[in-house]
Amino acid sequence: MNPFSDEKIVDSWSKNITPWIRAINNNEIESRIGVTNRAILKEVINRKPKNVLDIGCGEGWLVHLLTEKGINTLGIDVTEQFISYAKKYRKGKYMLLSYKQLEEGLNGQLFDLIICNFSLIGKNSVNKMFKSISSLLNKRGSFIIQTLHPLLVNSENYVDGWREGSWQGFDKEFVDPAPWYFRTLSSWSSLFNANQLQLSSISEPKDENNNLASIIFVGTHNN
Ligand SMILES: C[S@@+](CC[C@H](N)C(=O)[O-])C[C@H]1O[C@@H](n2cnc3c(N)ncnc32)[C@H](O)[C@@H]1O
Repeated sequence: MNPFSDEKIVDSWSKNITPWIRAINNNEIESRIGVTNRAILKEVINRKPKNVLDIGCGEGWLVHLLTEKGINTLGIDVTEQFISYAKKYRKGKYMLLSYKQLEEGLNGQLFDLIICNFSLIGKNSVNKMFKSISSLLNKRGSFIIQTLHPLLVNSENYVDGWREGSWQGFDKEFVDPAPWYFRTLSSWSSLFNANQLQLSSISEPKDENNNLASIIFVGTHNN
């Protein structure tokens, strides 16, 4: 298998199910507890959506929280063990689907809001998924992505391309980190523009010491 490929990302995630679920359930990821979980929840709640699609939902923590708030939420993920865990232990609806299968898998369903929370890691799978988004959104719908801030990575070699993954800061149970495809700010922006979406806001959540934690892009339907 190509070590820098979308297939490798899915393969790596399938090896880290148990430690990932434990890390989420035990609140082990500091940046998430301190900043990024709150940041994505605020973006969603402020828009008062009736129905939400969480793409790359993992074990389902966000779908669960939104469902508890009365928002009709569907989570999709390509990793079978995450979806079976979510169906068993989390509130909300879940489907086993890859990004490439979105349109046919969702069969004409439309959403007020689509979220990708730290789930856009690859290259071709992400490019393909972006093409489906406008056909899955209601007319006034929004698409929200939270991801690693490009400036957090480094300012040298500031070009799109595959990077090696790392489980730095995580415990020894995590293995074989997934590679990921770095995108510059302008590349993220082009992805919206090329796919009938207007990039309507960018926010940059920070911790209490003003350290950058992530970036959040919000796109809206162009029509
Ligand atoms: C870092 S986890 C984020 C999970 C969740 N959004 C959260 O906030 O905890 C990345 C998720 O993206 C999913 N994923 C990666 N590539 C995918 C693809 N091509 N199709 C569907 N899911 C994918 C993985 O299975 C994993 O659950």
